[in-house]
Amino acid sequence: MNNWPRSIASPHVVNIEDLRVRAERRLPRAVFDYLDGGAETERSLRENSRAFESLTFRPRNAMAVPQCDLRVKVLGAELAFPAILAPIGYSRLIHPEGEVAASRGASEAGTAYILSTISGHKMEDVRAASKGPLWYQLYLLGGRAAAEAALARAWKAGFTALFVTIDTGVAGMRERDIRNGVGQLMGGNWIGIIPHLSQFFSRPAWVASYLMDGGLHGLPNVIIPGEGPMQLIDVAAALAESVVTWQDFRWLREVWPGPIVAKGVLTGEDARRAIDVGAAGVVVSNHGGRQLDGVSATLRVLPEIVKAANGQIEVLMDGGIRRGGDIVKALCMGARAVLVGRAYAYGMAAAGTPGVRRAIAILRADLERTMKLLGCATISELDQTYVDLPPDWPGNRL
Ligand code: FNR
Repeated sequence: MNNWPRSIASPHVVNIEDLRVRAERRLPRAVFDYLDGGAETERSLRENSRAFESLTFRPRNAMAVPQCDLRVKVLGAELAFPAILAPIGYSRLIHPEGEVAASRGASEAGTAYILSTISGHKMEDVRAASKGPLWYQLYLLGGRAAAEAALARAWKAGFTALFVTIDTGVAGMRERDIRNGVGQLMGGNWIGIIPHLSQFFSRPAWVASYLMDGGLHGLPNVIIPGEGPMQLIDVAAALAESVVTWQDFRWLREVWPGPIVAKGVLTGEDARRAIDVGAAGVVVSNHGGRQLDGVSATLRVLPEIVKAANGQIEVLMDGGIRRGGDIVKALCMGARAVLVGRAYAYGMAAAGTPGVRRAIAILRADLERTMKLLGCATISELDQTYVDLPPDWPGNRL
């Protein structure tokens, strides 16, 4: 049917978990765990997925649904279906095509991609790979001067919305990364990598592609005035020095002409603050369980934020989405659309651009099938009447 490369074609790859297995086979342990892992006990990482499992569907059967309308409007952009590719820092380490692959895959599928500040590819190259909506994710790395230069460049290149990540006051404690020597790898500390070298011997294809790509890249979109592109070695320290506060949103509204979205909202109070500072939307997100361990699953807190938003701003969500049915559940609980992170990044790790395409195709086919089985023809009709909440969830009926 489809001309997928054999390694990611059916029956080898049927779902996102199959792509995860392929990713694990191609990546050295340090890089796979960087992508796959979460903070501390990884409880929030696990809970994100479990929350989807604990919601059950209430289908309307004996309904003819020959066609589904999956389209949705997000931040003024028409998307072919309600899943957006989330920002994933260091994508170029996962695969040389990295951010360019994600941009191309999203554009071909008719959806948007959000480029991380921590990109190994220039934003202009990412833009050139896409005909669709592209949005920029901001960390204040390098301070306001570096950010202002990046934002002016992003706007000129055609990025139309800004996602400001607010849950990274410091980097989360990712224990797998410490054990695997990720700090040494990203910092180019070759002597420090020696104890961790064996994991690379068993992954020659990744090592060859990494070397052919010129090894480690700096951050071409974070230009420090008077110094040039920021080096990866500085990122963890720079993150700790670059906390975003609500005050920064007022400044950002002056320097960014398009809509601004706060990414990392987990409470109704923060949703109201986002409204107060003029945000156009929020992403209910716990950074895929990579920051503060022990926070709730995002699906569980979503209704509180939808209620606080009160229709004044757009509410997106992410965390734990591995199937189209998960997208449907998030929309039933009030999200306008979702962001997917690891789901497409596993595909990227497995096979670059075709892997991203494959991940999106799986999610989209799942989504359409689930809608038909639910007896629901359009995305805008999805609501809480299509799901049952577990009895121990807060009484959050919208
Ligand atoms: C992320 N995420 C992230 N978020 C962000 O705002 N800027 C970034 O640079 C990154 N980098 C990043 C790297 C990796 C490897 C992962 C897995 C995640 C968080 C990301 O945008 C999103 O919130 C989560 O990935 C959503 O959870 P799922 O879909 O991965 O479960």
